[in-house]
Amino acid sequence: MNTSNPLSHPQVEQRVNELLARMTLEEKVGQMNQELPLAPPQLDAVRAGRIGSFITEVSALAGAGVDPSPAVRAEICNDLQRVAVTESRLGIPLLFGRDVIHGYRTIFPIPLGMAATWNPERVEQAASVAAMEAAAAGIKWTFAPMLDIARDPRWGRIAEGPGEDPFLGSALARAMVRGFQGDNLSRPDKLAACAKHYAGYGAAEGGRDYNFVDISMRTLRDVYLPPFRAAVDAGAATLMSGFHDYSGVPVAANRTLLTDVLREEWGFQGFVVSDWNAVHELVVHGIAADDGDAAVKATTAGVDMDMIAGAYVNQLAQQVRSGRLSIDVVDQAVRRILRVKLAAGLFDHPYTDPQRAARVILTPDHRALARQLAHESCVLLKNENNLLPLRPEGPFKRIAVFGPFAQARGELFGTWTLDGRAEDVTSIADALRETAPTPFEILCLSDKPDESLYHTLMGVDLAVLVVGEHPRRSGEAASVSNLELPAGQRQMIESIHDAGVPIVLIVLAGRPLAIKREVDLAHAVLYAWHPGVEGGYAVADLLFGRAVPSGRLPVTMPRATGQVPIYYNHRNTGRPAANRGDSSRYIDLPIGPLFPFGFGLSYTTFRYSDMRIVQNGRTVHISAQVTNTGAIAAVETAQLYVRDVVASLTRPVKELKGFCKLFLQPGETQTAHFTLSEEDLTFTGLDDRPVFEPGVFHVWVGAHSASGLQGTFEL
Ligand code: BGC
Repeated sequence: MNTSNPLSHPQVEQRVNELLARMTLEEKVGQMNQELPLAPPQLDAVRAGRIGSFITEVSALAGAGVDPSPAVRAEICNDLQRVAVTESRLGIPLLFGRDVIHGYRTIFPIPLGMAATWNPERVEQAASVAAMEAAAAGIKWTFAPMLDIARDPRWGRIAEGPGEDPFLGSALARAMVRGFQGDNLSRPDKLAACAKHYAGYGAAEGGRDYNFVDISMRTLRDVYLPPFRAAVDAGAATLMSGFHDYSGVPVAANRTLLTDVLREEWGFQGFVVSDWNAVHELVVHGIAADDGDAAVKATTAGVDMDMIAGAYVNQLAQQVRSGRLSIDVVDQAVRRILRVKLAAGLFDHPYTDPQRAARVILTPDHRALARQLAHESCVLLKNENNLLPLRPEGPFKRIAVFGPFAQARGELFGTWTLDGRAEDVTSIADALRETAPTPFEILCLSDKPDESLYHTLMGVDLAVLVVGEHPRRSGEAASVSNLELPAGQRQMIESIHDAGVPIVLIVLAGRPLAIKREVDLAHAVLYAWHPGVEGGYAVADLLFGRAVPSGRLPVTMPRATGQVPIYYNHRNTGRPAANRGDSSRYIDLPIGPLFPFGFGLSYTTFRYSDMRIVQNGRTVHISAQVTNTGAIAAVETAQLYVRDVVASLTRPVKELKGFCKLFLQPGETQTAHFTLSEEDLTFTGLDDRPVFEPGVFHVWVGAHSASGLQGTFEL
């Protein structure tokens, strides 16, 4: 047993055993039950020990902005907690959960945007701020980080996750777990993390949300599981099982994933909560006859807590009494839940100081961090003739700002935000106007272009168009069959272009969109995702050069919807894509993506040179010199990719195995260093077990997945 893990501490085990020995079967099942705090709250059920946790939301689509959930306050949680602690027989505290996905009141960029920072340290700070704010409102558990690798941007939930790459996803997973939990979960400013949606949910067939997943166990292990493994190794207290059916077995009943892999292979000590109503949905999947059957299958597979289905609380005791379910399964689940409650310090400090919220929520420091993250998350995709940053001495003085999201405020948050408030946000148009230095003149035009707009445009030097998708067009239950911008926006861009006004396109989106034509028409394109509460100022800072873009794509950008799934770490085929009749390509599209994974421009340029590969026993050291060849100090993200040339299985053409950030003054050179060992080159072999196969490896160090200095080593 790992004693550095607070969930497996001997004192915790002793208290868990003492409690368990005193619990009735109904009280045990109560701990496994999570409910919504309905009005009036279920006080009698809390008194009777029939509720272990509350999810403080109103519906499954609360985070999609469909059913805004009322704000949660420390006082409300404390009142419920008081009933649990002082009026229930054993006084076991409640665990209050909420979806704090990318910030509580200080909303950071959407997770996909945070992934575009390629800056785990900064993401850790964001998670830590989110924890501090949410904990002050009485929450002790967040349903984050969302760690679903996604290769198909039709899937709306790609917005909530780390993108397409398992290596980057794992780095972000560790960062977020550390940020939420710190090294002591019982601190009043920390939350228990919940890595979700275990596992493979992002591979939903056709990119359609909630759809089944049929990928090999090998792909699951090599691509989709690594971020979860990283979260578990970083001490994540809980995991959420996904809604989906993996290879014929819905995850909420999937013993292989929930027990064999998660507990036996990885040694996970925390508990698993189902996704919303997913225990009941086992009946709909057609794998359980009724809720009783579903409850037995889910608990036996390893789902310890039932999120709102009521199947456990209504069925489990009877299933145990009738002999259909062993009490040992129930005891084990309760043990895991109590361990987390103890490690979270709930028995010693069940209440939240109601004064704390005013001190810690949306402080200037938190806003500054949100602005920094928004700077770092924006990806500069195009910058013809170095149009950006806008310089006072440059040709563009009169600047018109418009487009459907120019005046947007709450929409800058993106999907899955419950507690952000539109009034906290300054729109991109207002931020540009407020912060424009002389001699710029910013004209904020109406959202809807009409004849007078085109007339007004006659006198402007530049159009800043803020386009993209509404937050509700990404996120949960928001899969799309078409990745293009809405027709009206495309037409608007065409006509501004036809009017001869140079265009800077700011794209707000929860996914990589297919914007080939718009990129061609614009002079500069800044991909801002949904950038959060400080997004307006961050975009203004980037346009005026007060900040330099450093975001890099955490996903491949397709040329057209029909190209998806498209991702850089694919296998080769026997007839790799080439400009030949018989190669693996679409005959109606050029080969390759619009922009590759890892891509992003800066206001300066970087040169890679002098790659070195030095082998030291079983370790390979790889380095390259990176020089800032432009005139602006900026950050470069140096990336390391490898390819296993010959193996017993076909291997990806490239895999990210390292990255580092270098801050370089003009003319400065620094060294990007990486090391690789056998462990980094291990993959899932023919027998579905990890294997390292010695041989020749190609290696690249460069600015993105489609460039770089290349070398070779043998290990
Ligand atoms: C989502 C989860 C979320 C849960 C609770 C579900 O619909 O899939 O990601 O944590 O609701 O709100």
